[in-house]
Amino acid sequence: MSSFPNDFLWGAATAAYQVEGAVSEDGRGPSIWDVFAHTPGKTLNGDTGDIACDQYHRLDQDLDLMAELGIRLHRFSISWSRVLPYGKGAVNAKGLDYYERMVDGLLARGIRPMATLYHWDLPQALHEKGGWASRDTAMYFADYATLVNRRIGDRIAFWNTLNEPWCVAFLGYRDGLFAPGIRDEALAYQVVHHQLLAHAHAAAQLRDDGTNGKIGLALNLVSEVPATESDLDRAAATRMDALENRIFLDPLFKGQYPEEVLRFAEPSTDFSFVREGDLDAIRRPIDFLGVNFYEQHITSADPADPERKVRVTVPGKRRTAMNIGVTPGGLFDVLTRVKRDYGDMPIYITENGIAQENVVSPDGIVHDTARIEYWAEHIDAVSQAIDRGVDVRGYIAWSLLDVFEWQVGYSRQYGMVHVDRATMKRTWKDSAHWYQRVIDSHGAMIEPVHAHE
Ligand code: FCB
Repeated sequence: MSSFPNDFLWGAATAAYQVEGAVSEDGRGPSIWDVFAHTPGKTLNGDTGDIACDQYHRLDQDLDLMAELGIRLHRFSISWSRVLPYGKGAVNAKGLDYYERMVDGLLARGIRPMATLYHWDLPQALHEKGGWASRDTAMYFADYATLVNRRIGDRIAFWNTLNEPWCVAFLGYRDGLFAPGIRDEALAYQVVHHQLLAHAHAAAQLRDDGTNGKIGLALNLVSEVPATESDLDRAAATRMDALENRIFLDPLFKGQYPEEVLRFAEPSTDFSFVREGDLDAIRRPIDFLGVNFYEQHITSADPADPERKVRVTVPGKRRTAMNIGVTPGGLFDVLTRVKRDYGDMPIYITENGIAQENVVSPDGIVHDTARIEYWAEHIDAVSQAIDRGVDVRGYIAWSLLDVFEWQVGYSRQYGMVHVDRATMKRTWKDSAHWYQRVIDSHGAMIEPVHAHE
């Protein structure tokens, strides 16, 4: 039996573009994801978030669903261009009304709101002014945060300024796989820095403005393992750790970029975009760290250029539909590592989950046994990290619903609740019934699987 502190919170997450739909209703402006998803060849089957889960029109139904599940915390995101259609300037009152309904609806059901301010959907108008390549975007982000705070900040329990800034920078600006679909590695480092500045300015303005919510951000942290104990492989794994984890953790908690990032970034990156005072602003304390966990990487030095290049594999015999191995020990590693290298801090698991291709059985239900196993093992890993003194205060499953899953559209699903694409009907999968019992027992029904030493 696993045990969790009395005030540990159980939650489920979504994000605006993945669930809301209603992309051109009530004054919402387009974001880079609208444009990207509508560009031929960018998403599987040309899927878009135009309708997504239609949550904009079904909010009360989804709030009731959350209440029935028994979650105590809901992580959702605010669409910047629903609130500020051009990213700055004219305010869309109906956009703010929508998020106020969300927050009040959650509170009325005893669920704490955790709002993410940026879950990848930059207003297209700001992208056309330079987007994350421009330093001004960080300022506009802080103004947007203040605007939202003035309307609902008295009722927000937790803020995530950013979600997974690594994906924005590297999948969006280096690999071109995510919006805005740019392939320019040097620019990706600039985007890292401008997002961190955006976080810093928004956090400072929220504090100055007197918010009630705790302020943090959600990073996707990877468990990094060298393929062998050889010096070259260990150095290769250390470089991957710098490029995937420390690139955010070090500036936030130590006020510096890792030396490996400066040394191994694409040679034309000159880092002159890091100005005096920036790193002091970025390292100002936050109230909690959000950890999104999905993968472990095993790294070896590439024999072709062992000092610089790496080969990475994702271990795990059991694979998700995204071909990621199931490695709950990786979550234990990531959590104990944050404590060891960055000290004690409140941590929330802000995302963790498994992709599957839904198989609806003749009884109309998705019997998602692998998802139950996945969550059970990862929740157990959290419990073991807590036993080791890591201050984890909540677990937020990804995801509440079957959502628009970015570049793979609706082909892979992470939800505990199935959403029929034709009718939008919500049907609990086995995992939703299971999670309801987990919450009800406050995690006591989770059986320890194995020790993650
Ligand atoms: C994370 C994203 C989230 C979802 C999950 C599966 O990278 O933050 O929106 O797509 O992966």
